[in-house]
Amino acid sequence: MTTTERLHAQLPHTLRSTDFPALGEKYQGKVRDVYRHGDRLVLITTDRLSAFDHVLTTLPFKGDLLNQLAHFWFQKTAHVAKNHVIDKPDPCVTVAKRAEPYAIEFVVRAYLTGSLWRDYEKGADPYALKLPPGLKKDSKFEKPILTPSTKAPVGTHDEPLSVADVVKRGTMTQKQWDEASAVALALFAEGQKQAAARGLIFVDTKYELGNVKGELHVIDEMHTPDSSRYWVASEYAARFAAGEPQKMLDKENLRQWLINERGFSGHGALPSIPDDVRVGLTEKYLAAYEQITGTSFALEVGDVRGRLEKNLRAAKLL
Ligand SMILES: Nc1ncnc2c1ncn2[C@@H]1O[C@H](COP(=O)(O)OP(=O)(O)OP(=O)(O)O)[C@@H](O)[C@H]1O
Ligand SMILES: [Mg+2]
Repeated sequence: MTTTERLHAQLPHTLRSTDFPALGEKYQGKVRDVYRHGDRLVLITTDRLSAFDHVLTTLPFKGDLLNQLAHFWFQKTAHVAKNHVIDKPDPCVTVAKRAEPYAIEFVVRAYLTGSLWRDYEKGADPYALKLPPGLKKDSKFEKPILTPSTKAPVGTHDEPLSVADVVKRGTMTQKQWDEASAVALALFAEGQKQAAARGLIFVDTKYELGNVKGELHVIDEMHTPDSSRYWVASEYAARFAAGEPQKMLDKENLRQWLINERGFSGHGALPSIPDDVRVGLTEKYLAAYEQITGTSFALEVGDVRGRLEKNLRAAKLL
């Protein structure tokens, strides 16, 4: 079977949601099902695909690809910052330390693109960055910048904040902000370095951070194509000069498709996503996985739920 055939064959098996009361109290995020038992969390990365804060469909193998990529990066950045990982009993499961999360998404950006470009183009400056006028789309900043946003409750949108507001609102103290932002920038620098070695530009990313026993930890996921943007380095200069879109390995592909083909940018009825598009999107995740890790991903067609249960039992979690 070709890759495309395998991805089509996996469509009926995608994992949309889970129900394991024995794992603890369940919280359903957009992508992850999170079970809490005391100070331990079991995070199951499902195959759900979200964009503009809405769950739109599922993609074959997406949960496994994302969770494995997050692990790859947790390992590769363990010397920079502590993270929440305890164990990975299944390709789509992370057992983690429960943190007291900051209610902030720590977004680090090295380029003027995506939603920041869309704001800049409109003359909006929600992060009080005071960028100079006349910048071109996809231009590189002198050094990476932070554009924090609130972590909004389910069903609402994240709200951009200036750094001053994070402290003024009492969301974090200045000292907490200084520590967290330094960690976010150090992780980002590490991501840029390692991505560059694989022929990629690490364009921007979102971190979630929290405290475990008073110590700052990276939580949730990290450096995945859901939370980050990657461009193909060898293509950057020519495309930038020509004003063409960058070659992306990330979710901006999906956002552009939704805007252009469905007129959807988060409002109104949810668009339906045809199977060919779902398979095409997994192909992007797969390419990202393989380029970032330098290893290939085995597409084993079959029942994800059954495998998951078996692995959770083997790990004595069920
Ligand atoms: N170690 C941790 N301690 C506490 N909370 C965590 C930890 N790791 C992840 N989380 C939380 O678990 C949830 C993971 O779910 P998911 O990634 O699907 O959510 P999301 O779409 O990013 O956000 P939302 O929760 O707003 O839907 C997030 O709310 C995240 O903040
Ligand atoms: Mg998340």
